[in-house]
Amino acid sequence: MSLDRVHVALGARAYDVVIGQGLLAQAGALVAPLLARPQVAVLTEARVAALHLDGLRAGLSDAGITAQSHALAPGEGTKGWDGLREAVEWLLDAQVERRDMVLAVGGGVIGDLGGFAAAILRRGVRFVQVPTTLLAQVDSSVGGKTGINTRHGKNLVGAFHQPSLVLADIDLLDSLSTRDFLAGYGEVVKYGLLGDAAFFEWLEVNGPALARGDKALRQNAVRRSVEMKAGIVARDETETGERALLNLGHTFCHALEAATGYSDRLLHGEGVAIGCALAYELSARLGLCAQETPSRVRAHLRAMGMACDLADIPGDLPGVEALIGLMAQDKKVQDGRLRFILARGVGEAFVCDDVPGDLLRAVLEDALAARG
Ligand code: GLY
Repeated sequence: MSLDRVHVALGARAYDVVIGQGLLAQAGALVAPLLARPQVAVLTEARVAALHLDGLRAGLSDAGITAQSHALAPGEGTKGWDGLREAVEWLLDAQVERRDMVLAVGGGVIGDLGGFAAAILRRGVRFVQVPTTLLAQVDSSVGGKTGINTRHGKNLVGAFHQPSLVLADIDLLDSLSTRDFLAGYGEVVKYGLLGDAAFFEWLEVNGPALARGDKALRQNAVRRSVEMKAGIVARDETETGERALLNLGHTFCHALEAATGYSDRLLHGEGVAIGCALAYELSARLGLCAQETPSRVRAHLRAMGMACDLADIPGDLPGVEALIGLMAQDKKVQDGRLRFILARGVGEAFVCDDVPGDLLRAVLEDALAARG
């Protein structure tokens, strides 16, 4: 299978996302043209390092590139002030210079944290994203959102800092658990739902085989997702308009993540999938889309073995008012109004700032009641 290259057309900050198999082995040849000197600094985390660091080093060394590396602790807890300090101080200890290149090798935590460390190191050093999860390959590694969490919430401190290259190696997805793979698939489905009905139909047909491990199908799904994200980011880099569509399902998701304590009761991508189903439910109640569209969305998620209802979240959940309160803390609140991405059909999402509270309450009440 050949490599795909998706260009993110951002003028002076433009870059390519290279998608394919065996990319770690080719990393040296792919990265070398960007380097001022043949050395890189790799930020990663311990689990990813054990699986992939040797392969990456070998690929870099084939092109005569040496790599210093530092592995942070795995998990969302690393993506905070302490993890940032550790990363930046290691980069300074490693004498990374302004013209050098940082490689962020890992899932969303390392991509966001490593990108932010690169953004503030010496007022901005270039970096390459090497996403190792499906979620990071189709979403967080592309588009330049970098940052950390604070006690006030997730991703509240950060910077737009575009990578110089993204290497999405499809082979790395083999090491994901089924649960992690399917959580990432929640973001893939999101692209079909928000803007490409034909892609959603393709996923309905090919999703199960893709989840079982078909690499050509996986590469096609990652490529189409990245193409969609690249187009949106190129048109609206800093989210003044269209980029908000990428938040389909996320207002519900962020409230559910907060309600479950950001624990493994609910992974982010699982929350996105449930959030997308609820966004379609809300759209149908508002008469925006056909009554059967939410069932179609849920049927696909169910066929994939994914969570798609509040009933699929284990343990207690707070009531309707508490959930709405958590939504109101989301950073997408503007002038105190909740912002939802709703849809007129599959592939037809839009931003809505004036959702009637009673309909929102009714959707949540019914979803909670279905938990029994
Ligand atoms: N993950 C949403 C965005 O990049 O805008």
